[in-house]
Amino acid sequence: MDAAVWLIELVLLILPAYFANSIPVLLGGGAPIDGRRKMADGNRVFGDGKTVRGFFAGVAAGVAVGALEGIILTESQWDIYAGAFAIGGGIVAGGTGLGAGGAATYVLAGFLLGCGAMAGDLLGSFMKRRWGLSRGKPSLVTDQLLFLALALLFVYPLAQQLLTLQAVLFLAVLTYIVHVGANVLANRLGLKKVPW
Ligand code: CTP
Ligand code: MG
Repeated sequence: MDAAVWLIELVLLILPAYFANSIPVLLGGGAPIDGRRKMADGNRVFGDGKTVRGFFAGVAAGVAVGALEGIILTESQWDIYAGAFAIGGGIVAGGTGLGAGGAATYVLAGFLLGCGAMAGDLLGSFMKRRWGLSRGKPSLVTDQLLFLALALLFVYPLAQQLLTLQAVLFLAVLTYIVHVGANVLANRLGLKKVPW
């Protein structure tokens, strides 16, 4: 596969997860997911930075970007899920070809990427609290790579062909760069107190 095509396809694949991970900064707030509960170590389970509204806004953003991609990319030359099976259609219809790919697959992928990104984000905060890091303190692996790892794990069943080891390594580097850049920008725009 052409390297440029490969890069573009990987960016299209990961885009719903990037939106899922960044929209809570804008739309989050309100009740924390952990209900302010603490663990035996005296620290919060997740902390005030992980809210119910932020979580659902993130998943919804993943679904919305997935749906948008489905409308634009289905049956185009960039149809990244052309070979994947849509839920229901593909799985039930088996080899008949019914439901292979299609816009529904993008919506499902967006949902999986959104859920994965938000689960990884939560897991990251959980680990930071266990390490005694207070809310907002930076942690390279948990802040930048855990949401990616779980998003990719969740979407893997639909994107096996594209998600080679090389692809995952490329996405890790890309995510690191995008995440650092986005946080510096959010800080400059006054959306985040700290540039990480
Ligand atoms: N956010 C939210 N709900 C989520 C995730 C994020 O409301 N499930 C919002 C919070 O306002 C949070 C901001 O997005 O402060 C930035 O998210 P993040 O950097 O992940 O959280 P931190 O505040 O840095 O907290 P932590 O140390 O737990 O990562
Ligand atoms: Mg943070």
